[in-house]
Amino acid sequence: MNETAPQVPLHFRRQGDIAVLIIDNPPVNALSQALRKAISETMALTDADPSIKAVILIGSGSTFIAGADIREFNLKLPAPAGRAAYDSVDASKKLTVAAIHGNALGGGLETALCCHYRVALRSARVGLPEVLLGLLPGAGGTQRLPRIVGAAEGLELITSGAHIDAPKAATLGIIDEIVPGEDFDALLQGALAFTRQALAQGKPLRQVRATLSKLAGTDPALFQEFRNKNARKWTGLIAPQKIVDCIEMAATRSWDEGYAFELARFLECKESPQRAALSHVFFAEREAAKIPGLGREIKPLPVASVAIIGAGTMGGGIAMAFANKGIPVKQLEMSAEALQRGRGIMQKNYDTSVSRGSLSKDKADAALARITGTLDYQDLAQADLVIEAVFEDMAVKQEVFRKLDAVMKPGAILATNTSYLDIDQIAAVTQRPESVLGLHFFSPANVMKLLEVVRGARSAPQTLATGMSLAKRLGKIAVLAGNCDGFIGNRILANYAREAEFLLEEGATPWQVDEALKGFGLPMGIFLMRDMAGLDIGWRVRQRKEATRPKHLRHTTLPDRICEMGRFGQKTGAGYYQYQGREASPDPAIEQLIIEYSAKAGITRKPVSNEEIVRRILTAMVYEGAKILEEGIASRASDIDVTYVYGYGFPRYRGGPMFWAEQQGLAQVRDWVLEYHRVHGDHWKPVRLLDEAAAAGSWKAVERSR
Ligand code: CAA
Repeated sequence: MNETAPQVPLHFRRQGDIAVLIIDNPPVNALSQALRKAISETMALTDADPSIKAVILIGSGSTFIAGADIREFNLKLPAPAGRAAYDSVDASKKLTVAAIHGNALGGGLETALCCHYRVALRSARVGLPEVLLGLLPGAGGTQRLPRIVGAAEGLELITSGAHIDAPKAATLGIIDEIVPGEDFDALLQGALAFTRQALAQGKPLRQVRATLSKLAGTDPALFQEFRNKNARKWTGLIAPQKIVDCIEMAATRSWDEGYAFELARFLECKESPQRAALSHVFFAEREAAKIPGLGREIKPLPVASVAIIGAGTMGGGIAMAFANKGIPVKQLEMSAEALQRGRGIMQKNYDTSVSRGSLSKDKADAALARITGTLDYQDLAQADLVIEAVFEDMAVKQEVFRKLDAVMKPGAILATNTSYLDIDQIAAVTQRPESVLGLHFFSPANVMKLLEVVRGARSAPQTLATGMSLAKRLGKIAVLAGNCDGFIGNRILANYAREAEFLLEEGATPWQVDEALKGFGLPMGIFLMRDMAGLDIGWRVRQRKEATRPKHLRHTTLPDRICEMGRFGQKTGAGYYQYQGREASPDPAIEQLIIEYSAKAGITRKPVSNEEIVRRILTAMVYEGAKILEEGIASRASDIDVTYVYGYGFPRYRGGPMFWAEQQGLAQVRDWVLEYHRVHGDHWKPVRLLDEAAAAGSWKAVERSR
């Protein structure tokens, strides 16, 4: 076998009697069909060449193989052929060594597990994260990994999809040796040294499937116990259950039976709508980070220090989000008492994290020490970014921005954390509207992943780029939103909450609506959520907007009736539900109120099925989503999905509301809208973009043509 000229996606190099196979499929060396073919062919050549004694598999650039090429799962490829590459490595007649840096994930780790030995840099990470994509490892991962780490550890690792670092992997026996150094060259040198020594010592061709088994003696009860323990967590999910079945097979049957069983389960997962939904979310969240039309030459501004106005729930959470990432924060309040109260709450939150073991005491203390309070705007002047998180009132916010404009250094970014107010009206009181944007955090801001970055009419591209890059630094997912009442998330929420209220008038109860939504996979129904948030704020907003409410549209005053009874939700012990502490239960008084309300409004109550509840509410979300797309408030339908998955607990395995609509068929959703328009009036006025998308069969098609 001769050295070959570099050929994508696999290069071959000789080092004496060792063949070095360099996988070269940027950016993450994903196992595409072409790469798998190249691996099989090259392994056949190394097998046939008597001058080659060993083969090293290594990834070019900064990583081993990050897994199968996820994009190819939507193609109809012959699946068993997909295993040929792995089988060729497993059956190699030459000693094989995987040299791992960066990530060995999914099919990447499975390839490494087919090798006889594995070495890694200390910084490398390995894992089988297929479950997060609605899949299971389909190339022997569920059979080989537990043979190395045992059933209990295998169950945890594969059903969680956790990435673990090389030292832990070495402790578990996944990695045979950690080699010194930081980069590709160091790894290759280490792997060559390991391989030469293995050859010199006459180490055996150690096939994981044949020679290793920590599965012997596994307690057969373990699997059912594991299923029971996780039953709630896995509600609605297909892949984790099947993973347990596969590992149980590995522990109880022959290799051939287990390997075939795994493939069959893999194919079931691969064809499931959950797999399609979860891969959609994977790419959607990466796409959301890119602002259409914003060139790579627009670099974010450096943010080394942050100021926050307000130490309430939002201000405190935002301060913690920055401090947790090592960024110093100055927090301004109106009084020393308010500062102290805010600090007390942050301290309590950190104490909870420490007592739960999610944060060490040292890290919690260091984070809190990064947050300092002040009463003086002048103290904020040198911060690179200031975020206002005061009461949701335009006049109050404008006053804060006037002061900020006066003191902040030139070039500083001025952000508002408003959840629905007009960014342009806020920017208008400053001399630097180009530096103003919305950064809408979700509560609790130190926990929730979503950040809506709201673009004002005059926000500069660099201001927006800074907002987006900041999200990544904070470990959050950013979605760019245009300026409108409620932006993307809360605008859609208002629409679907309205339909939920109408459903009460028409025949449903709050607990039935909530149960239907939970059945769909939402963590909590809309009425329970409203009770938790408090009903009085919405009541006040409705009172304020009453004069300007379009009178020709269907309207309900049912929520006002509930507030008039002094029922403001959980905090008053009653809202849509009645409460014993935090325990909600259906309240006959509310059911009676709703029945009387319907009668007075002249609405004949009829049974509403859970299916109809879900369809109506989801269609209301999609309808508003289509309007939001048409107006350019969201750049892509998938951005709306990301907003709902990360900000509102929309079940990830359903892909988001807009993805759900595509799965129903956009023409079908359009027909439901037409029907709702006929029955319920102009809240459902047809949207042109939805018609176009229905005709084209996808959101992408209409996004592209705009
Ligand atoms: N297939 C295709 N593209 C992939 C990919 C994959 N497995 N993994 C990452 N990419 C792409 C991303 O979409 C992104 O593309 P763009 O730049 O065009 O947006 C690019 O690679 C870089 O990815 P990230 O932005 O995520 O980079 P990161 O450095 O933050 O993270 C990573 C790197 C940890 C590898 C992360 O990308 C990741 O977790 N990838 C998925 C890993 C995975 O789930 N592997 C299992 C796949 S399923 C499987 O393997 C089953 C099987 O064989 C039978």
